[in-house]
Amino acid sequence: MSRQKILVTGGLGFIGSHTVAELQQAGYDVVILDDLSNSSLQVLDRIEKITAAKPMFYQINMLGKNRLKEMFSAESDIAAVIHFVAFKAVGESVKEPLKYFHNNLLSLIHLLECMEEYGIENIVFSSSATVYGDPVELPVTESTPFKKALSSYGSTKQMGEEILEKTSAAKNIKAIALRYFNPVGAHASSLIGELPLGIPNNLMPFITQTAAGLRGLLTVFGNDYDTPDGTCLRDYIHVVDLAKAHVKSCDRLLQAGMTEKYEVYNIGTGNAISVMEMIKAFEEHNQVKLNYKIGERRAGDATAVYADVKKAAQVLGWKAELGLQEMVTSAWNWQTNLMEMTTVL
Ligand code: UFG
Repeated sequence: MSRQKILVTGGLGFIGSHTVAELQQAGYDVVILDDLSNSSLQVLDRIEKITAAKPMFYQINMLGKNRLKEMFSAESDIAAVIHFVAFKAVGESVKEPLKYFHNNLLSLIHLLECMEEYGIENIVFSSSATVYGDPVELPVTESTPFKKALSSYGSTKQMGEEILEKTSAAKNIKAIALRYFNPVGAHASSLIGELPLGIPNNLMPFITQTAAGLRGLLTVFGNDYDTPDGTCLRDYIHVVDLAKAHVKSCDRLLQAGMTEKYEVYNIGTGNAISVMEMIKAFEEHNQVKLNYKIGERRAGDATAVYADVKKAAQVLGWKAELGLQEMVTSAWNWQTNLMEMTTVL
């Protein structure tokens, strides 16, 4: 059988690039679509270094439907699409809701319209634990009810899922939505990793940049939460494990094993890790000291969010394999490698 072709939108981003590498290593051919607005073309060469295969690449912004259609005409035999393209800065989305609704929803709608037109039947959607808001129960299962999203980013993920559910019910399209918990870490090669623009919002890149001396001080956002050490609990998931969940999803879509046309999965480890535990693990496993202080709570942060991951294990056949040590060491190796690389990504 010839190799099956997967289109990965946003394939040069943090999760996208790791997913492309895993797809290629699992025997899929990959076409990447990315507008380079939050990524670099050099990631393409680095993926080639890892997998010895260069994916086909199209620099396209998905808001322009004509270019998108040209791409689908040129790549006629796409078996499935993994859709990562989205703006993802939670704070910015609160200030600029229309920017987020316009970009995140229209890119998904254009994609689904093209899939219908070109007869592509399978899609994996990049969703988020943010759909649960401040969860009503823990651990969070796939049937835990959504709360009103606290950010427009969160709204676009809730709406994206609804668009997929309704479209798959009405059309010849099967969809899997993966609700990521907190992705961290980097590829074992240290050739690809997270490249946040400007000051990082998320904990792990802030930790690595502080350890590297690029940031003076890490602030722990509150230590008066109702948790064992007072800091918030999250379910951190290694990005390579997360990437593998996408490969499993493509396998499931393409091997005709689905019983429903629309499925959702929590993608986490099921372990709750506090901010202080993360800081301590980073210091211990990397033998570096972090300059940090305890500060005020950050508005909108939930006390605890962690996944029930039974469904992913039982139905998707996927389970996280990498632990906290691999998360903190790979993140640090990536950061140090990034600063050593002569070509700045
Ligand atoms: N934190 C700090 N200091 C920092 C950054 C973060 O203490 O400098 C804390 C936060 O308060 C939180 C934890 O570290 O307790 C994790 O924060 P992140 O910003 O890394 O992650 P969030 O859980 O807030 O965000 C994640 C995803 C988003 C998603 C959001 C809401 O990264 O995409 O969950 O579910 F929208």
